[in-house]
Amino acid sequence: MNSKILAELKKNPPAFWDLPKNDFSEISKFAKTNKKWRQVLIIGIGGSSLPARTLTVALSGKNSPEFHFLENLDPTTAAKIFTEIEWSKTLVLVISKSGGTLETLANFFVVQKLLGNSWRKQVVVITDSEKGFLRELAKKEKLTTFEIPAEIGGRFSVLSSVGLLPAALAKANLGKLLAGARKADPRKALNFAQLQAAEFRRGKNISTFCIYSDALKNFAKWWEQLLAESIGKSSKIGITPEIAVGATDQHSKLQLWADGPNDKFFTFLGVRNFEKDFKIPNPPDVETLRCDVSFPNKEFSFLQGKSMQQVLQAEFLATTKSLVEKKRPLAILEIEKIDEENLGELAQFWMLEVYFLGKLLKVNPFGQPGVERGKVLTRRILEKNKG
Ligand code: PA5
Repeated sequence: MNSKILAELKKNPPAFWDLPKNDFSEISKFAKTNKKWRQVLIIGIGGSSLPARTLTVALSGKNSPEFHFLENLDPTTAAKIFTEIEWSKTLVLVISKSGGTLETLANFFVVQKLLGNSWRKQVVVITDSEKGFLRELAKKEKLTTFEIPAEIGGRFSVLSSVGLLPAALAKANLGKLLAGARKADPRKALNFAQLQAAEFRRGKNISTFCIYSDALKNFAKWWEQLLAESIGKSSKIGITPEIAVGATDQHSKLQLWADGPNDKFFTFLGVRNFEKDFKIPNPPDVETLRCDVSFPNKEFSFLQGKSMQQVLQAEFLATTKSLVEKKRPLAILEIEKIDEENLGELAQFWMLEVYFLGKLLKVNPFGQPGVERGKVLTRRILEKNKG
């Protein structure tokens, strides 16, 4: 079975598999010649926003512009972003594969008006090479554009211009990111998918992804979309993703994980080395503090001299151990540090894993027909109430 699936990957690979081999010189060139922008506003939603969020938040380099994201159509969020933006110093990226997503277009039309006459010089469109409203508009108005390859869908587009252009503007190293992605091992991804499929068949229809780094929160949001949209395709097949951030969520979810229903498959992702760290100083002396509460400093002397990351890692280990004691199925992944290579490899690993999971559970991981109905109904409602 394994060799058959791996042979198929070689013979008929999904489109995302080859993205790391693509030439990215146009993207790098654009980023190099557009260093003047102090802010970048990204307008897109779902798979056309999360890749940019993931890479810019985790990999922003020195002198990176400030990134803002307009995803939802929430006027309060928009108002806040608009007060933080200095329009003359802002580059706007409008990202949409279909070129016709309602939220993205509505946000774009508002921003276009705010930019005034100079909007054509400040807007870059990332969309399908031929189809859609945004492609037509870009042609008509001669806007700068980057293509999303025809067969690439939103959540699988991290390593296309959708993720790479924002990453390049954030001063991340694209060469290293793509080299990392090329290192992703299909055999490991398949093993993981087999484990997850087996646990799903044993009733673990929730997949909990607990990351031990705040910088990976957006990465986890992207993973959540990848798993939910790709695998949830019939009334019998679908895995509900749950994301959590360690150690914070140990204080809200661990009780349920340990003693609640045994319906989850856990994946813990840890980081061995953080770029910055802080040593925890001696616990305060009760005498010098002159507080009324008795606080014997011996009680916390084990913290003395430890660093923040050492404590976080101890929590990572302890939490996984406590779940193993409760016979909860889990997998542990660790990366050395958060950098381009590791993030590229992880992104490609998860796309492969979900692709294999689709094969094992016999569902097509691409497309999202269930999302379409909502779009059609929204349009119908708005067309009835034309303003
Ligand atoms: O993963 C997906 O395909 C979706 O989340 C889309 O990215 C999202 O609906 C936005 O679509 P589009 O890129 O066409 O604007």
